[in-house]
Amino acid sequence: MARYPTADALMADAAGRFVSVAAQSLRENGRFLVALAGGSTPRKLYETLATPEYASRIDWRHTHVFWGDERCVPPDDPASNYRLARTTLLDRVAIPETNVHRIRGEDAPDQAAVAYEGELRLVFDTPDGPPSVQPGRRLDLVLLGMGSNGHTASLFPGLAAVRERERWVMAEHVAEVGGWRITLTPPMLNAAAHVLFLVSGADKAAMLHRVLEDPVDPDALPAQAIAPRDGALTWLVDAAAAASLRGE
Ligand code: 6PG
Repeated sequence: MARYPTADALMADAAGRFVSVAAQSLRENGRFLVALAGGSTPRKLYETLATPEYASRIDWRHTHVFWGDERCVPPDDPASNYRLARTTLLDRVAIPETNVHRIRGEDAPDQAAVAYEGELRLVFDTPDGPPSVQPGRRLDLVLLGMGSNGHTASLFPGLAAVRERERWVMAEHVAEVGGWRITLTPPMLNAAAHVLFLVSGADKAAMLHRVLEDPVDPDALPAQAIAPRDGALTWLVDAAAAASLRGE
C-alpha cells in the first residue's frame, strides 16, 4: 500500500505509475491495454494524464482503453463512466477511435455484456476459456475504485457477479443503485498484470479498514475478490481514507 497526505498527491503518483506501466507494456508487448475505473475518484487522474507533461509520455497510437464497468445509460449520460473518461482524457489525447473499447450502456444489458466479452476475447486472442495471464494477452493495468459499501467495479455485495468464475463480463441489476450495471468479473480483473486501487476521502475510511484488515469475505466485501493470479495489486490511499487502518 502507498499512502499520500492528500488526494492530489495520490493522483500525481497514480499518473506516474500509469505512465510507467504503459512504457513497460509498450516496450515488452508493443501495446498497452488498460481498463479505466468509473465513479468520481479517477477524474483528477484522467485530467492529470491529459496534461502535456504526462500525455506526451504515452504512445496513444498503441494504447487500448477499456472499462472495468459501466452504468447502463447512453454514452452521453452524466452517469456514464465512458463519458467521464472521454471528456477528461480521451478527447484530449491522440488515441485512435478504434482503440477505445467502450461498453455499450445504451443497449440491452445482457446483450451489451455478451458483446463486450466478445470484443475482449478478440483483442486478447482468447476465443474461449478463461482469461490468459500471458503478457500481451491480458490487461496490463486495471484502475479500480472502492465504494463505501466495499464494492469495486460493479461487483456489489451479495450479488452474482462477485461469485462468477466463467464469464469475463456480466450484466446485473443492482437494487442498491437502482439500475443495471455491466462489469468485468473477478476472473477477468484478476488476470491483469497490475491492479491499482485508488481510494480517497474520509467516507471510505471505515470500509477500507474492513476490506484490508477484517477476515476475507468477498461476498460481503467484493473489493477483497481482487487478487491478481500473476500480477501486482497496489492500494493507493490518501490519509483521510487511511484514517481507520490499524496496521502500517
Ligand atoms: C462505478 C465505479 C465504482 C467506483 C466506486 C467508487 O461505476 O461507480 O466503477 O466501482 O469506483 O463506486 O466511486 P467514487 O470514486 O465515486 O467514490
